[in-house]
Amino acid sequence: MTRDFVVFSGTSNPALAAGVAEGLGVRPGSRTVTRFPDGEIEVRLDEPVRGREVLLIQATSPPVNDNLLELLTLADACRRSAAARITAVVPYFGYARADKRRGRREPITASLVAQLIQAAGIDHLLTVDLHAAQIEGFFQIPVDSLTAVPTLAHALRGRMPQRAVIVSPDTGRVAMAADYAHRLGGPVAILHKRRTSGIETAVTHVVGDVRDRPCLIIDDMISTGGTIARAVEALLQAGARPEIVVAATHGLFVDDAWGTLGHPAIREVFVTDSVVPVESERRLRIVSVAPLIAAAIRQLLAGGSLSELYRDVPRSQAGDPS
Ligand code: R5P
Repeated sequence: MTRDFVVFSGTSNPALAAGVAEGLGVRPGSRTVTRFPDGEIEVRLDEPVRGREVLLIQATSPPVNDNLLELLTLADACRRSAAARITAVVPYFGYARADKRRGRREPITASLVAQLIQAAGIDHLLTVDLHAAQIEGFFQIPVDSLTAVPTLAHALRGRMPQRAVIVSPDTGRVAMAADYAHRLGGPVAILHKRRTSGIETAVTHVVGDVRDRPCLIIDDMISTGGTIARAVEALLQAGARPEIVVAATHGLFVDDAWGTLGHPAIREVFVTDSVVPVESERRLRIVSVAPLIAAAIRQLLAGGSLSELYRDVPRSQAGDPS
């Protein structure tokens, strides 16, 4: 039996929140989010939450700190108003790449964010393609990381060049590449990426045969586009055909990402709507994860299993790329 619940959203991605609410057959809960003149955040719930399940939908995408604090203040408002349980639905989890210390005198910001989320009274975290599975270990509360791979793979079917090689742009994404390969068919190639500075990377080796074949490069996120651009250069140097499709769960596209991704070999870039696309681009295809998130929430509210979600994603649920 589904418990009484209410869905609130922050301001990071109202369209996705509306899509999730629609998938659940409810309207988003009424709340007010404003800024004081000095930039401080003010939030207010405009409907009761006492004794109810609350779902707070808020991606911690850029502006990361503002969106994070909105999530925390909304959670605090729910906790102080006696919500029965607060689930944070964070389609994109910012600071996830800060999951380890790379040198001395550095923080582990992903761990700090986990502590803040728990301190705010959030009981459960639902996210999508968390950058690294071990981040779950920073939490004492349940964390469920959904994957958008079946949804994106479904949208890619029929749009992929024949004989494409699935390419992981670094060793961290090999399992995800294998999942795409399992769903779409085709061999996997792995690039060895080396960080040359805080923001610069270089590909040193291509492991796998890409000669005279088109490629699908996959990743969990595109931020500046640098990782994908370096991958394209390395693949073309290794003899790949200049026919490249890119798929990533989170499309942040910060700075001049589309300039960085300007190589004509890149035919299409598929991302989900976990983050609001900053600008429209001819080669961009957006696939909605709202049905996936709504289905996951339905399972959680009914006390069901999330593995049920991946048995098969029918075309109507996968969403057509726009
Ligand atoms: C790195 O470990 C991530 O999986 C992405 O490859 C990376 O964060 C993408 O960032 P950018 O687009 O700035 O290269």
